[in-house]
Amino acid sequence: ILEILLKGLRRLEYRGYDSAGVGIDGGNGKEWESNAKSIQLIKQRGKVKALDEEINKQQDIDLDVEFDVHLGIAHTRWATHGVPSPVNSHPQRSDKSNEFIVIHNGIITNYKDLRKFLESKGYEFESETDTETIAKLVKYMYDNRESDDINFATLVERVTQQLEGAFALVFKSVHYPGEAVAVHRSHSCALPFFSVFSAGKDKKSCSALPRTDQDTCLFPVDEKAVEYYFASDASAVIEHTNRVIFLEDDDVAAVMDGRLSIHRIKRKTGDYPARAIQTLQMELQQIMKGNYSSFMQKEIFEQPESVVNTMRGRINFDNNTVTLGGLKDHIKEIQRCRRLILIACGTSYHAGVATRQVLEELTELPVMVELASDFLDRNTPVFRDDVCFFISQSGETADSLLALRYCKERGALTVGITNTVGSSISRETDCGVHINAGPEVGVASTKAYTSQFVALIMFALLMCDDRISMQPRRREIIQGLRVLPDLIKEVLSLDDEIQKLATELYQQKSVLIMGRGYHYATCLEGALKIKEITYMHSEGILAGELKHGPLALVDKLMPVIMIIMRDHTYTKCQNALQQVVARQGRPIVVCDKDDYETIKNSSRTIKVPHCVDCLQGILSVIPLQLLSFHLAVLRGYDVDCPRNLAKSVTVE
Ligand code: G6P
Repeated sequence: ILEILLKGLRRLEYRGYDSAGVGIDGGNGKEWESNAKSIQLIKQRGKVKALDEEINKQQDIDLDVEFDVHLGIAHTRWATHGVPSPVNSHPQRSDKSNEFIVIHNGIITNYKDLRKFLESKGYEFESETDTETIAKLVKYMYDNRESDDINFATLVERVTQQLEGAFALVFKSVHYPGEAVAVHRSHSCALPFFSVFSAGKDKKSCSALPRTDQDTCLFPVDEKAVEYYFASDASAVIEHTNRVIFLEDDDVAAVMDGRLSIHRIKRKTGDYPARAIQTLQMELQQIMKGNYSSFMQKEIFEQPESVVNTMRGRINFDNNTVTLGGLKDHIKEIQRCRRLILIACGTSYHAGVATRQVLEELTELPVMVELASDFLDRNTPVFRDDVCFFISQSGETADSLLALRYCKERGALTVGITNTVGSSISRETDCGVHINAGPEVGVASTKAYTSQFVALIMFALLMCDDRISMQPRRREIIQGLRVLPDLIKEVLSLDDEIQKLATELYQQKSVLIMGRGYHYATCLEGALKIKEITYMHSEGILAGELKHGPLALVDKLMPVIMIIMRDHTYTKCQNALQQVVARQGRPIVVCDKDDYETIKNSSRTIKVPHCVDCLQGILSVIPLQLLSFHLAVLRGYDVDCPRNLAKSVTVE
């Protein structure tokens, strides 16, 4: 079971890697029993590897012991309350003898009050986490129970009634050997879907009988040898099962005696929501690195295929039509709207910036592109005839999800552009487009960006499919999309050249990236990639703003990258190039491979193939993805796990 837990943690590591921990049956020097009544906690700061090493050092884990039922919980942490350290890692415990232990994703907003209350009852806290309050509270409620036969699920349900905030929790206790209880609530904030995964040894022996008239769903078991998993991410369990049940708010799921029960809270409408087993489409190899040194590198090189997967079945290149099944019931309403608002964070926000111009051109609507946190901070006015897009790789980013709920409350139509089927954003939006890029594991997003880009372009094409005046432009873009995968391959073949460039730059402190028009987003995204994984300072600069400030940074030492493509901003970009050169700058220019003018005037160029202007941003960003990757490797950093960052940020 330790092996299963550790492997699961390794697969989840991209979501947080400040520290990790496991809680399993046994240990504490007590006698082993077939249903062990003591719990051993092993926690370590740093990556799962460090935890693994710590486990190997522990002398009292006897791996040959056999259990009737064996159960463990494990967690990787991305610190919100308290520094990364073993004591702040999860599982958190009720007391020194580990009577109750708990793992937690999310934030408990009333933990200070609860902690004060528990301290007044004599509980001593060892960590700075909000989670420890939960572990102590469950013990307090157990010790003060009115009857001896309170079951674990009921106890946990009572505990969660006292909690405010967003959480996904799993509990284990010495008082309930062989049992685990999980709860989930995310009304006020985002959380990864917290799912129950169940599997028999033959993967068939568990069937769901959700009955809409009962408050508890039971999953009966025909055979004894059944495994159950709770997980916050499919990648942790996909090698064991692809059959999952999504938990909903306030569900209490318990595994006991080889049975899984889900206690459902009655919805206002009177019905108990059904819980059926769903099948995930993910393959194990999609979350393996293969021959690449990192997930990020693999994902950069996957882009010729991932953009094809985004377009698959949606574009007919022979008759220039676009079909987006996820929008078909709403497209008429979208076409009648007054404004499009694209809302996102990080890289996904840049996908909105990158496609704004073509969306404005093809829809002839005002398009706003908003960072979710700022959009909420401003209490931005939203109207019923607005259409709000939520672009998110994970579909779980807290800021984006909160902005989605904000827009829904104001009656706007909501559209999700996500990479994760079943994610909160894809479930809560009215309609949407899955980008189908395949699982993205590298914290620095790459293939999701180019697929989001393509998905938004397809949406723009769909919006004007019956506009006669737009047809020549539509055809041009669709034929551009047809050749895009080959052009991406051509850009990827520049890898060696870019690696060489990285060897010249990796000891620098700073890199400025300048461009305008379609390529402003490339500058922002390239700078974000460099910041995220190389820890160098990098800034994406709108070339139009150069003379209003950033030019002061330019001298003969400052590394500058400029994006100059042959589109309507070409002459203005040439002017910017001259302004930089006149200050003794020696920019590296990403340009069209047959733009001899720019090649002649630049000391160094990265030459990319030409494509239709509004798609060129896909080709200009890839050299910067590759550059950031090589810079990080040369600087000796872990490309997939940059310090202080996490793949999906499910807290505000
Ligand atoms: C985090 C990640 C970024 C990502 C952003 C938005 O900050 O580190 O890589 O771009 O969240 O994530 P989303 O899943 O909503 O696209």
